[in-house]
Amino acid sequence: MPSVVDTAITHHKEYFPQSSDVSVFVSPGRINIIGEHIDYNGGTVFPIAIDKHIYICASRNNDGIMRFASYQQHEQGEIAISNIHLPNIRDVAKHKWWVYPLGACALSDIHFESGFDISFYSTLPVGAGMSSSAAITVGTLYALCALHGKKMKNIDVALQAQQVEWNFAGVQCGVMDQMAIINGRKNNGLLLNTKTMEFQYIPIDASAIRFVLVNSGVKHNLRESGYNERRSECQGALTLLQKAGFAINCLCDCTIDELATIKDILPITEYKRVFHVISENHRVHEFAQEIQKYNLAKAGRLLYQSHHSLSNYFEVSIPLIDAMVEWVSEIDGVYGSRLMGGGFGGCTVTMIALYAVEHFKKTIAERFEKKEGRTPDIYECTIDDGVHQLV
Ligand code: GLA
Repeated sequence: MPSVVDTAITHHKEYFPQSSDVSVFVSPGRINIIGEHIDYNGGTVFPIAIDKHIYICASRNNDGIMRFASYQQHEQGEIAISNIHLPNIRDVAKHKWWVYPLGACALSDIHFESGFDISFYSTLPVGAGMSSSAAITVGTLYALCALHGKKMKNIDVALQAQQVEWNFAGVQCGVMDQMAIINGRKNNGLLLNTKTMEFQYIPIDASAIRFVLVNSGVKHNLRESGYNERRSECQGALTLLQKAGFAINCLCDCTIDELATIKDILPITEYKRVFHVISENHRVHEFAQEIQKYNLAKAGRLLYQSHHSLSNYFEVSIPLIDAMVEWVSEIDGVYGSRLMGGGFGGCTVTMIALYAVEHFKKTIAERFEKKEGRTPDIYECTIDDGVHQLV
């Protein structure tokens, strides 16, 4: 059986028959274990890079054109290098998958002397909340830098990829996904302080636990607008607190003890958002401590608490996801579970004892099917390295 890399190269050559000297890069998806909706509030988050990947093949062409092809998306795009800095470049691939590699080319300050044919082959599901868009953007930027011998710090790659989301896709995301994808390390979580951008690797015992995602299959069309709305609610709350005399630069500068005072200052909606943000930030630190001490039951309880807060205070859950978290809590070997990512649909992430994974998958699939009349996609994930070159 051909390896995934061989398969990716074969497809690349089908799209671009003239290509020779194909370089191959691999970019992982990410799971956020805990620390949701706080990466744009200066909080600390705990993501991992996972063993679901986008394989990026790239070869030089002499046509002065950047060409993009995706095996999974069945649609190709291209742009002449001379047009990459046109004022309307943001609209060229609007709502199309190749807006991400296009944005990566457009925002990079690489001086392209030739065009490139770039193809993508993915084992990372799109639209399931595992950050396929960040994987493709970070991966493309990384590949372009490597192919041009350009040294760029990981943090700068992450920040530039974030700008692609902001300016090309219209999502005002934080920087967690990009940082996890570029800095991920096998069998380690990334305890990332999004205020200072400092991080620390926290080992996770792969022989004891797995992280399993169950996809609700709900793609809410409010997803992007809902995300941006939460972000502006947090910004509004920050402004109100600053006006009230809080010497803070971000919501996560506040402590748990200050919540009582904050309650009297903010309108109820803003208070609920801030309650989530501050308590979630606190939970992330607790989680990192418990997981290092192998206190898996305690760590798992923090995941349930995170979900409760996302559902009741940050209000980004939906009834089906709430039900899924409740269903899995009754299954043997489950330590904890919660909504993962931006919310309004997408996946739950469940931390589970390794021995219990097969039983878990069977049980949750049956329960889901009975209620929903359809089979959920379930992804068992291991913790993998960040983006790197293979060939
Ligand atoms: C999305 C964003 C991240 C983060 C999460 C919520 O995945 O891309 O930056 O804000 O939502 O934690």
